Amino acid sequence: MIILCSNGLTSGELLQEAGKYAKKGGKAALIVTADPQYKEKNYHVDRCLRALSYLGLEADVFDFDTQPAEALSQYDVAELIGGNPYYLLDSIRKHDAGDALGRIAREGLLIGWSAGALVLQKTIALIGSYLPQLNFLGLQDLTGLGLTDIQILPHYSKQLKKDASVEEKCQKYERDNHCTVLRLNDGEGVVLEEEPRVVRCSMKVEVAGVEFQNPLIAASGTFGFGREFSELYPLSVLGGVSCKGITIKERPGNPPPRVTEAPGGMLNAVGLQNPGVDHFIKEDLPWLSRQGTRVIANVAGSTPEDYCETAEKLGGTSVDMIELNISCPNVKQGGVQFGTTARGVEDITKAVRKHCKKPLMVKLSPNVTDISEMALAAEAAGADAVSLINTLTGMRIDIRTRRPIIRNNTGGFSGPALLPIALRMVWQTAQKVKIPIVGLGGISTWQDAVEMLLAGATALQIGTVLFTEPYAPIKIAQGLRAFMEEQGIKDLGELTGGVRPW
Ligand SMILES: Cc1cc2nc3c(=O)[nH]c(=O)nc-3n(C[C@H](O)[C@H](O)[C@H](O)COP(=O)(O)O)c2cc1C
Repeated sequence: MIILCSNGLTSGELLQEAGKYAKKGGKAALIVTADPQYKEKNYHVDRCLRALSYLGLEADVFDFDTQPAEALSQYDVAELIGGNPYYLLDSIRKHDAGDALGRIAREGLLIGWSAGALVLQKTIALIGSYLPQLNFLGLQDLTGLGLTDIQILPHYSKQLKKDASVEEKCQKYERDNHCTVLRLNDGEGVVLEEEPRVVRCSMKVEVAGVEFQNPLIAASGTFGFGREFSELYPLSVLGGVSCKGITIKERPGNPPPRVTEAPGGMLNAVGLQNPGVDHFIKEDLPWLSRQGTRVIANVAGSTPEDYCETAEKLGGTSVDMIELNISCPNVKQGGVQFGTTARGVEDITKAVRKHCKKPLMVKLSPNVTDISEMALAAEAAGADAVSLINTLTGMRIDIRTRRPIIRNNTGGFSGPALLPIALRMVWQTAQKVKIPIVGLGGISTWQDAVEMLLAGATALQIGTVLFTEPYAPIKIAQGLRAFMEEQGIKDLGELTGGVRPW
């Protein structure tokens, strides 16, 4: 079987397709030849190896330039990664590797993405029409391996953003060659069954001009910067990750105990422990940005200047969106005091807006009388979206010592018990604002997710459930997909705000 795709197995849909044909316990070769410069240092290698091992495969890095093509005979699966298609084709020819790849396509699973997909086609001529500079070898014969009649244009919308004439060039190529080119975005692909089957991301959503492959975003503070969870699954199964709240300077957080259980959820008073924005930009963001998921930087601070400076620093980075945390109840100075009056929300949003080049989402506190007033204030001050809700302030007491269990005395309550409150708040807010709402608070199952969409959310965040069920986003995505099929829903937007109040 052959799967052609744009950027590797970077969606739940593609992983599911590959899982149908990859025998668990089998061996996989990740062929890195297409990137002559970086090979094993190529940043795609790490995420691709993780995706293959998530499928239950034992994966090795393989390179035609240093290993004999015959050695591929021990592999059931091969993945040709992207890079330079001319270089890859030349190397495959020089090392007579075409037959070995053909065998894997017949007997196992051959995945080709970007350059790795182009060389499996009859010709790689299309890419010459819009990226001729890649042919530094001056390759004249552009005949590919001919393992498929399909032709793809990978990274379609990204290419268009860089160069609007790509579409025109592709149409000319189609006319000149009497063919149809399949335009693929990252996360999409085609499975070459008897009738080729195109795999699209069925749950795409857009918030503030940012496209998410699916609506499931890991909630701030429950996912760190993603590294630990990436040991369990490729982060590209998520629509996005909202990072732990980041401040201008490193913060040690509150003294312990900082978390405790409560009926239907938990209390936390972590107190915004984080390494500071400079460390985040240097050490965490580069890695996270390469995982095939959207990155939201959750920004907190003690003063408006802190917020503005942090947002400014993030302006020149690869983060996709900034989430303004004006609702953290667990720090003495800063955070929630900006978020509990409409005036406070408006002032801080306005101030940050001036310094923020990224799409700006304001995260609202439920510890207010009318959250929709806060949302209106954020919208008026230039927010592109709002996310709600943060934690509800709570308390637990040790009956023997008579001391609060949390050292901070109070903490933020989160978890399943929050769901009805969050639903009510999202519903009320959706009736007031025009900007999109990212809904969160207590979502644990796909049914909860559907409720949150119906209440008025465009996208969702998944938080506390991750501590007891780290695979929850994968299960929620599967449930949502099945529900869409059952209900004949083509676009998740059909659910947003679809509740029918009495
Ligand atoms: C341990 C912990 C740490 C959190 N840290 C942050 C944070 O840094 N920034 C933020 O905006 N929200 C933070 N939150 C709040 C969550 O992002 C989310 O708004 C809240 O938990 C409600 O959703 P849930 O019930 O799905 O967890 C934290 C929550 C928990 C449980």
